[in-house]
Amino acid sequence: MTKVISIANQKGGVGKTTTAINLSSSLAAAEKKTLLIDIDPQANSSSGLSINNQSPSVYEVLIGVEEINKVILNSYMPYLDVLPSNINLVGAEIEMVDMPNRESLLGQAISKIQNNYDYVIIDCPPSLGLLTLNSLSASNSVLIPVQCEYFALEGLGQLLNTINIVKQHFNKDLAIEGVLLTMFDVRLRLSQQVAEEVRKYFGDKVFKTIIHRNVRISEAPSYGKPVILYDAVSTGSQNYIALASEILERNSNGININ
Ligand SMILES: Nc1ncnc2c1ncn2[C@@H]1O[C@H](COP(=O)(O)OP(=O)(O)O)[C@@H](O)[C@H]1O
Ligand SMILES: [Mg+2]
Repeated sequence: MTKVISIANQKGGVGKTTTAINLSSSLAAAEKKTLLIDIDPQANSSSGLSINNQSPSVYEVLIGVEEINKVILNSYMPYLDVLPSNINLVGAEIEMVDMPNRESLLGQAISKIQNNYDYVIIDCPPSLGLLTLNSLSASNSVLIPVQCEYFALEGLGQLLNTINIVKQHFNKDLAIEGVLLTMFDVRLRLSQQVAEEVRKYFGDKVFKTIIHRNVRISEAPSYGKPVILYDAVSTGSQNYIALASEILERNSNGININ
């Protein structure tokens, strides 16, 4: 069975794209066939894997003028494919408004190819608009990155509300895969406080793995590489490999056996 995971938080800069790139490449390194779908018009997941200004992109798939299998690209990692984004996607939400089943266009496309993959990871834009709605409707679960900073919990109520609306109307089985603490700084008391607060609120939904602030993570995209290929021994690599292991472990109870 394929597991489809959205990485969502309407706040920008919390580590969605970083997590999408590095989780999907860590799953691929563990020889799980993985598809990374970039559904953010900024296309940072695509460029972070050296795929730039690609056309056709997920945009053409959503508006129904290209078949998904013709748009998916191989990355340079054997087990990792990418459905790239492109800045054209900016207009998609407006174009999709009048389309029938406008919330399920991505899900319909994914259903055609999902048997080819063990994991599909979707990098969402920083909003709760139609693109994120399509992503949540197409997913088995959602991974919520939370930055260990001031106002970390701000806006999460709105995100949980949206998840509930999607459950009621489009995808009753949507689960929370987990809440991921990102950019944790061991030197800052604030980071510890935020981690405690998030654990108080979300309990065992919070991943044991914490992603530390690590300069190698922020450097890697400018080389078009995931951190595991840019600096395999860095803290960032180790953190994302640990996250992939934790997800593989959590999903090993029958859900993900082919
Ligand atoms: N663990 C980390 N350590 C250092 N920098 C990070 C880390 N995670 C993300 N960043 C940096 O923070 C910025 C925002 O991250 P990004 O993943 O693009 O967030 P989002 O997709 O939620 O907007 C980027 O410049 C990224 O390189
Ligand atoms: Mg992003």
